[in-house]
Amino acid sequence: MAESIQHARIVVDKAFRIAEVDKRIYGSFIEHLGRAVYGGIYEKEHPTADSRGFRSDVKLLIQELGVPIIRYPGGNFVSGYNWEDGVGPVEQRPRKLELAWRTTEPNWVGTNEFAAWAKEIGSEVMMAVNLGTRGVDEARNLIEYCNHPGGSQWSDLRRQHGFEQPHRIKTWCLGNEMDGSWQIGQKTPAEYGRLAYETAKAMRLVDPDIELVSCGSSGSSMPTFPEWEAITLDYTYEVADFVSLHQYYGNRDNDTPNYLARSMDMDHFIRTVIATCDYIKAKKRSKKTMYLSFDEWNVWYHSNDADSRIDPWGIAPPQLEDIYNFEDALLVGSMLITFLKHADRVKMACLAQLVNVIAPIMTEEGGRVWRQTIYYPYLHASRFGRGVSLNPIIESPVYDAKDYTDVPYLDSAVVYDEESETLTLFAVNRHLEDSLALTCDVRGFEGYGVTEHIVLQSDDLKAVNSADQERVKPHSGGDASLQDGYVQALIPKASWNVVRLAKTKA
Ligand code: AHR
Repeated sequence: MAESIQHARIVVDKAFRIAEVDKRIYGSFIEHLGRAVYGGIYEKEHPTADSRGFRSDVKLLIQELGVPIIRYPGGNFVSGYNWEDGVGPVEQRPRKLELAWRTTEPNWVGTNEFAAWAKEIGSEVMMAVNLGTRGVDEARNLIEYCNHPGGSQWSDLRRQHGFEQPHRIKTWCLGNEMDGSWQIGQKTPAEYGRLAYETAKAMRLVDPDIELVSCGSSGSSMPTFPEWEAITLDYTYEVADFVSLHQYYGNRDNDTPNYLARSMDMDHFIRTVIATCDYIKAKKRSKKTMYLSFDEWNVWYHSNDADSRIDPWGIAPPQLEDIYNFEDALLVGSMLITFLKHADRVKMACLAQLVNVIAPIMTEEGGRVWRQTIYYPYLHASRFGRGVSLNPIIESPVYDAKDYTDVPYLDSAVVYDEESETLTLFAVNRHLEDSLALTCDVRGFEGYGVTEHIVLQSDDLKAVNSADQERVKPHSGGDASLQDGYVQALIPKASWNVVRLAKTKA
């Protein structure tokens, strides 16, 4: 079919303020799973390994991404983890059967190594506690170990382990996916609610300055969603600051128009969780607003078959090594846009995960590090999506897909950085054949000019990157221009775009 051009319009104004973007929506996740830790961030024998065994080449890419917060140590892993196994002299740490992913955990990396690594690369830690096999006692001991300055059993043990200063970890997850049948120590909502409440109480007694995340559903398709949220929040509303959301998508039936509309499902999921939180708020006559931590999100489906062939009980086998294609990057872009549109309630989000395991960064053992296709929208959003999220008024042609109606071809979010006087428009064109001629009314931004129009596109929706070849990478050759208060830009078919404006005249 011949390519044609359709038209779309956006109006942006400083007054259309949603909220300040919390930079923590650009967070990520490292779980003791597959080659995320061993062979990912940590590889003692690697030529770039630092004195603690962490790969410097990987650190550099994470720093390039500017990841403000990293969730650790799981995931499903945390529900069977004894944190005490991962501290103290490495040679004395036990090897454990790891039941979530059926591997052997050598405990070469634990709480102290991870916290020191995160600090070095400029990321905060979002620490999860085990509410699967354990509970109040281990959580209060762990927080004492991490955050108490000294003079008590667990804080002095940390000092004895070579970490004189407390890690001061602020953000803590009360368990992981406790609604899931696959979770070790799965709970009913009432069991979880009580346990999470009591754990939160004890943790706050040790350190009143922490922030806590109450465990939400493992995904919007869980049969217990959103009843799980309603029941558990009834217990945890006043002790938690966030409720978690998790969601992964895939294009198993190779229906790309439907796949690219999945961010509408994510939007609906977020709205439903907000509604549920606000219902509990009303029920409790509470003044407090519950925020959302979308602490697992990504595309995940490419590796499913390969994983079923991996033998159990290996150390760091190549699990969940999805190789992402170009269309995955478009959906990841739309998911990031969705967070920006909900900047008033979604205050944290973690791309799951960061290295090797469903990740933007991949490594070769003893060799190179490379960027997957999804690396780029994540990089752009993290780098340019800081400031105030503005609500763009969008007029776009729409289409119907298998599961969605009236899907706008143009998906967009806008961020205004008051300090640097820059305006960034993120845009995905979901149309697979037609470009969009975009007119964006920015008359409220007098004296501004276009500084860059970054485009990520490929003629092949299934194009992937590898260590040898980066087939999908952005260029700055977009044609956006600004005249008389209107940006004109061609948003190519099936593309991710970043149009950047800055004040050039007083
Ligand atoms: O990120 C991979 C897994 O997905 C996590 O361990 C779990 O929380 C989720 O089901």
